[in-house]
Amino acid sequence: MIQKIGVIGAGQMGNGIAHVCALAGFDVVLNDTDRGQIDVALKTIGHNIDRQVSRHLVSEPEKVAALARIHPTDKLDALSDVDLVIEAATENEAVKRKIFATICPVLRKDTLIATNTSSISVTRLASSTDRPERFMGMHFMNPVPVMQLVELIRGIATDEETFRTVRELTIKLGKTPANAEDFPAFIVNRILLPMINEAVYTLYEGVGSVDAIDTAMRLGANHPMGPLQLADFIGLDTCLAVMQVLYEGLADSKYRPCPLLVKYVEAGWLGRKAERGFYDYRGETPIPTR
Ligand SMILES: NC(=O)c1ccc[n+]([C@@H]2O[C@H](COP(=O)([O-])OP(=O)(O)OC[C@H]3O[C@@H](n4cnc5c(N)ncnc54)[C@H](O)[C@@H]3O)[C@@H](O)[C@H]2O)c1
Repeated sequence: MIQKIGVIGAGQMGNGIAHVCALAGFDVVLNDTDRGQIDVALKTIGHNIDRQVSRHLVSEPEKVAALARIHPTDKLDALSDVDLVIEAATENEAVKRKIFATICPVLRKDTLIATNTSSISVTRLASSTDRPERFMGMHFMNPVPVMQLVELIRGIATDEETFRTVRELTIKLGKTPANAEDFPAFIVNRILLPMINEAVYTLYEGVGSVDAIDTAMRLGANHPMGPLQLADFIGLDTCLAVMQVLYEGLADSKYRPCPLLVKYVEAGWLGRKAERGFYDYRGETPIPTR
């Protein structure tokens, strides 16, 4: 049974995962190598739960109890007694493999590991652990406290008990699971990211401005957010990483990442988290950068 959950990576996704786990009554160990990022994550969680309190979705005592269940740490030893680790570190295979190699000796033998990767092969990541049968993909959507879906991905070796336990946990967190096979980018990003990449090509080729493209898709396709606004929200580095995985994993030129997306990432204009991407967020209202 899952009672204590370790979350590795306290970025946009890690803080959201810690938030929903703590509100659902689980003890959470929140780990990041960057101490500053942990402080930002704790502030963000407090702020986001406050918003739920003001909307009467969460009571003040529930908020206090949830925050008390989150134990921040930059040390991996603190994960030694967790029942499940949810890895939500940077979307980079080498980074993730190194994390798994480091944590496995620290974890109990029966501890399950889930990765929140958006696109990397679960089977391949599992092979960098000592427990491929107790490893699977648990792909939350951004922002985690708001989005209903969690994609569940079995690697080739994932055993039935691991899958059942993680599925039950997903439901306890108030989320709806959808099963996806272990192919590049699974379901949501296999469909969503090529659309975002195409929006960047549309910008790159001068078919429309940032504003025209987002307005067109919001009002013309009834999307709640324009694709470039959504790209900024996801993080342009993550978008590029997913496109590269699709391009290499499926060996099809239709997934070629747009050179303009590469340029934004090279500039460090990574979207909202860097305060600049297809929009500049440093002022009162976002201003298109092209
Ligand atoms: N952004 C999205 O919309 C989204 C949605 C679903 C899944 N994901 C996936 O979630 C993961 C995290 O994405 P994010 O958007 O939160 O990225 P992010 O850049 O906001 O956060 C990543 C965090 O990982 C930390 N980190 C890096 N190396 C580490 C290590 N060795 N140990 C501990 N922490 C480490 C970084 O310091 C950073 O705080 C990625 O795999 C991404 O593909 C992202």
